[in-house]
Amino acid sequence: MKILTVVGARPQFIKAAVLSREISKHENISEVIIHTGQHFDKNMSDIFFEEMEIPKPDYNLEVNSLSHGAMTGRMLEKIENAIIKEKPNLVVVYGDTNSTLAGALTAKKLNIKVAHIEAGLRSFNMEMPEEINRVLTDRISDFLFCPTETSVKNLLNEGFNSSNANMHNVGDIMLDSALFYSKISSKKSKIIQNLDLCDFALCTIHREENTDNPERLASIINALNNINNHCKVIVPLHPRTKKKINNIKVKPIFKIIEPVGYFDIIEMLKHCKIVLTDSGGLQKEAYFFGKPCITLRKETEWIELVEKGFNKLAGHDSQTILSSFNELLKKNMDFNIKLYGDGKTGERIINILIEH
Ligand code: UD1
Ligand code: UDP
Repeated sequence: MKILTVVGARPQFIKAAVLSREISKHENISEVIIHTGQHFDKNMSDIFFEEMEIPKPDYNLEVNSLSHGAMTGRMLEKIENAIIKEKPNLVVVYGDTNSTLAGALTAKKLNIKVAHIEAGLRSFNMEMPEEINRVLTDRISDFLFCPTETSVKNLLNEGFNSSNANMHNVGDIMLDSALFYSKISSKKSKIIQNLDLCDFALCTIHREENTDNPERLASIINALNNINNHCKVIVPLHPRTKKKINNIKVKPIFKIIEPVGYFDIIEMLKHCKIVLTDSGGLQKEAYFFGKPCITLRKETEWIELVEKGFNKLAGHDSQTILSSFNELLKKNMDFNIKLYGDGKTGERIINILIEH
């Protein structure tokens, strides 16, 4: 079997690392990796391939920094050339980025089977570019690898039980990654010592709805400035947000650093007090490492975290963020329930693919 993997954005490298390692255990499966180039800074791309020992991509399409349509369109054309050349049996895509949709759509139009990892997640907010990518990718995928019960239910509600798709709740592949790399991260990362971190709040911001709206961004920065007076806030800043942060009226007084690699972020997750984020991945990682999380959005695809009280949806309003911060830090939480499987998602996916 020849698998062609399409990745392009930071969270996809972290997920693909797991499956690439599983694939390498099977002599009769080969993998070709296409990097669309969507993320390209060293700390947004190369660092993950190096640290996580992901095989070097066979193709880098260098498509980035464009509008949604232009980015997706150029990816379609370039991925098509590579698929025609490589003739894979299956194309694997991850998550909900423009690279995901481009990979799935190109493959499907060439009658190549598509496996979508992280299928069925929904925010029910069709203004999010990611929601459009999710819905469309699921609709044309042959294998729908769902991470949670909720994601299975979402697909059933959309009528997927009557389609030909192969739907499986396999657990969350990011748990595999967190478990595997957290065993070695303390040896590999010196970030806690180097930045002298203790009792801090870890924060990331990159969602288009927050970064591209100056009032919302200012309101979030305001809340973080306030929190920083009681508890040191540290923000590895996404390049998207870096481009916008200087244009708003309120100036950050908390610590901003460059985006960090996976070992560093794991160590920061292990040592922080609380996470504030609009990232999808970081919401779950907060839970994996037993930390409460404030989500800087009005909705989440990882709804079980909110239902169980580990995560609070605060949106962008300063007061709501502050009151959520005070509330969550007072709460006693028992993180000993399994919401995302057993950390063997990668193995399960490969076994299902081999069976078919
Ligand atoms: C993308 C995904 C989002 C995901 C996020 C992960 C889409 C629609 N969005 O958002 O779902 O959560 O990745 O981080 O696919 N930039 C750099 N250097 C880089 C990467 C980006 O400077 O290495 C700049 C780009 O030039 C662009 C901006 O950041 O101006 C946004 O990048 P883009 O890939 O369009 O979207 P993300 O916000 O990263
Ligand atoms: N991450 C990282 N370094 C950082 C910030 C995040 O390695 O400086 C990791 C984070 O731990 C998670 C993934 O990147 O595994 C999440 O990616 P991101 O927030 O960019 O995208 P999303 O999950 O929202 O799609």
